Amino acid sequence: MRDISERSLTEAAIETFDDAESPRAQEVLQALVHHLHAFVREVEPSDAEWAEGIAFLTRTGHLCQGDRQEFILLSDILGVTSLTDLINHRLPVGSTENSVLGPFFVERRPVFEAGADISGGVPGDPLFASMRVLDGQGRPIAGAAVDIWHSDGNGGYDVLMDEVEGTAMRGLFHADDLGRVWFRSILPASYPVPMDGTGGEILRAGRRSAVRPAHLHVLVNAPGYERLTTMLFAEGDPHLDTDPVFGVKSSLVRRFDTRTGVTTPDGSVIAGEIHVIEYDFVLAAEPDVAAA
Ligand code: BEZ
Ligand code: FE
Repeated sequence: MRDISERSLTEAAIETFDDAESPRAQEVLQALVHHLHAFVREVEPSDAEWAEGIAFLTRTGHLCQGDRQEFILLSDILGVTSLTDLINHRLPVGSTENSVLGPFFVERRPVFEAGADISGGVPGDPLFASMRVLDGQGRPIAGAAVDIWHSDGNGGYDVLMDEVEGTAMRGLFHADDLGRVWFRSILPASYPVPMDGTGGEILRAGRRSAVRPAHLHVLVNAPGYERLTTMLFAEGDPHLDTDPVFGVKSSLVRRFDTRTGVTTPDGSVIAGEIHVIEYDFVLAAEPDVAAA
């Protein structure tokens, strides 16, 4: 007969998964019990604390409705989203680094021609972005699909703005034969992640910053290449070192310069002062293509 004690319980619980439905299920479930028990042995929660832990997870689940996914926010602020991404995308040196997707990408977005203004009429400091999509050898990836989305100068996204009909500050471009994409918009700003749920409880308990540094989201898809989900951050933003979702990598930080008389890739000149961001995205070939 099994005799359960504080010492023997962990091994007994792990052994119950010896005949799991697959080797992977066995590995995952046994590691889960192993680490969960190690956590409980280290922390030694009181009965009241464990009940609060269950209540916290229950509150988190109840918050997950419609577009709100509080478990993803918890994964983001505990660093699990970024760690999983780093493990699953060990990219060749020189490839553009990934960052988190976040909750504000939407499939229903307009397709724009090069040079378009994607601000959707939302007022703000003018921004000009000029980008290229390249392969690991520096060759342009013509036709690459480049999604852009970002906040306004108050840190708000169109999906949360009553005054925006349709979409603003987002759109899909296709790179030209030289791999180029360029557009106009407005300068994004830093903004807090949602603080009214269990993610906010954790950030407050940790006396952590909730504010993401100003950024442009970029998603690049091209056949034969790994999808790139990333962001460009504004150099000098005071929140770069305290991003609550661990999305900042130094290679993704760029100056949002102020320039006058900027000439765009098609030769037209932008009158007056404008902030300018330039970036070359380097895509990694899909593994089977790279091996061929
Ligand atoms: C964002 O950058 O849009 C974002 C990322 C993670 C959590 C919340 C927002
Ligand atoms: Fe964002």
